[in-house]
Amino acid sequence: MNSNSSPIIPENTDVRTCPINPNHWYAVARSCEVKRLPYSIILWHQAIVLYRDQKGIIHALEDRCPHRQVKLSHGSVSGNDLECAYHGWRFNREGKCTFVPYLAEHQKLPSCQIRSYPVLELDGFIWLFPGDEQALKQKSLQPMGVPEWDHLNYIATVSVINCPGHYSFLIENLMDMYHGHLHNNYQAWAAAKLQNLSVEQNRIDAYYEAQSYYRIDKIWSISQLFFPALRRLHPEPLTVSYIYPHWQSTLGQDFKIYCLFCPVHSTYTRAYLIHFTSLEAFWRLHKLPIKFRRFLKNSLFGSAQKILDGLVAQDVEMIAQEQAAYLENSSRKTYELNPTIAQVQKFIREQALCT
Ligand code: FES
Ligand SMILES: [Fe+2]
Repeated sequence: MNSNSSPIIPENTDVRTCPINPNHWYAVARSCEVKRLPYSIILWHQAIVLYRDQKGIIHALEDRCPHRQVKLSHGSVSGNDLECAYHGWRFNREGKCTFVPYLAEHQKLPSCQIRSYPVLELDGFIWLFPGDEQALKQKSLQPMGVPEWDHLNYIATVSVINCPGHYSFLIENLMDMYHGHLHNNYQAWAAAKLQNLSVEQNRIDAYYEAQSYYRIDKIWSISQLFFPALRRLHPEPLTVSYIYPHWQSTLGQDFKIYCLFCPVHSTYTRAYLIHFTSLEAFWRLHKLPIKFRRFLKNSLFGSAQKILDGLVAQDVEMIAQEQAAYLENSSRKTYELNPTIAQVQKFIREQALCT
């Protein structure tokens, strides 16, 4: 892959300083977060403003007014354009200046141009491509998507991860299922044992055998999410996959989990953890009217919130400590027993080299 401004990354680069490969789609916001006002995000050191035009279609521009370098996200939407708060210059979705309120008759619109980004809305999230647009077109790269998001048989819960650490710490946390120890009080999973590891060009799959506390085989068993006394440990396969730059997991037939990454900068990562409880097994439910099933899906949205937020808080605390220790002394040796982690680090370096 090719990008005109990207640095060359030597093979032995410390994984904690590796940049992202920008030639992928990143999940930068939930759809519901971007309403009528401009919305600012940062993706790998780049300040970007998202806004919706009159039809509600999402656009993304560099968050910088070329006139005096203030943030366009402090402005407002005017028709299909973005209007700067300071002097009211407007910019279209391509980043060209379209209007200056005090332009004299003999003056032309300034020829300034700010960067616009490919952006789209899919499965409840806003996906942005910060890389080389030619590569995007040539390879028809698509966002990973979350197919269960609108599916009537899946109940979603979303937890936002705001993590003061390099993205490598977060993906290592998600790929190393031996850290169930940390979450004992939330009873997420137990006794994970790595069975197999598969590495392909754009993904790593780690297959564990684990114990699950939950069995969703009757409709009322969803209440196990709220009442620990109803949970029973039983063996289930636990698969975790790094599908660059995102993560996906399945625990038996009952749960699917995604983590969509938005690395903010080298010591801060934002991500969206999406947990789905499956209703696939309830064939009687599938015969009910779609309206009712939609109502059930919407009413149960967020049913795993407490567990998910609790797990995230525990993980974030560990990652914050790892990052702080790294910043204190980056050459201190760490010890690793899970072969998945070495593969993940190699993969991150390779992706960084691809830029
Ligand atoms: S700084 Fe944006 S219009 Fe002047
Ligand atoms: Fe965790």
